[in-house]
Amino acid sequence: MFDAFTSDPHYYHQKIIEYCGRPFETWEEMNEKMIKNYNDRITSNDRVLWLGDTLMGGVQKGRDILSRLNGKKFLVLGNHDAAPHKMAAMGFEVVSHTLFFEMCGRKIIANHYDQWKYRSRWDDRYEDRRVHLNEGEILFHGHTHQLSKVNLNQIHLGVDAWNFAPAMREEVEQLVRTVPDVYSSKEFKEREFTLFEYRDRLRADLLDPELKNPKFDFLAGLGWNKETKMRER
Ligand SMILES: [Fe+2]
Repeated sequence: MFDAFTSDPHYYHQKIIEYCGRPFETWEEMNEKMIKNYNDRITSNDRVLWLGDTLMGGVQKGRDILSRLNGKKFLVLGNHDAAPHKMAAMGFEVVSHTLFFEMCGRKIIANHYDQWKYRSRWDDRYEDRRVHLNEGEILFHGHTHQLSKVNLNQIHLGVDAWNFAPAMREEVEQLVRTVPDVYSSKEFKEREFTLFEYRDRLRADLLDPELKNPKFDFLAGLGWNKETKMRER
């Protein structure tokens, strides 16, 4: 099991500061802050799963960063990452496209991308690399650079939502417990509506002033707020 998770640091990437509204002036400042935050939380014994988009640059730049970071690193490849053998040469123990494991009794799938079927049409890129969940799994992902951590059955582990630090296992487990296993519900099993429609139904409930909505906390936990950004470049 992994001790922590992170994604999309984009080390050395000056323009990501502007794209994502990160609170830094230069990539040097960004790099140093993320390295400090990482080492403040991660010990030499920890195993950390990275969900892609490590850095802009080649193997030597990767080595320069990873050699300064504590613990063992495992990588799920993102669209800004180099070929697997190059990422391994930077210092990742294992490089993969998708990983499967369990947490809190739930099946977890780790992949750089969120699920296309929950995205707007304008971002249908990388469809062949996205996973599609059908059996109650929870997706751990990066890529979106959104500020929220949870969206339906997807947990976003990118640094933009985690104050530019890794997400520790205990924090992630707390989120996993908030993701309802809607697939187990009778309605969903019978496919009376899709998960996307299920979300819309819950939203409609929220707007109904007559309804004392027991789902409110669930909605808030999903991070549906106006600050959510989808700005992958
Ligand atoms: Fe990214």
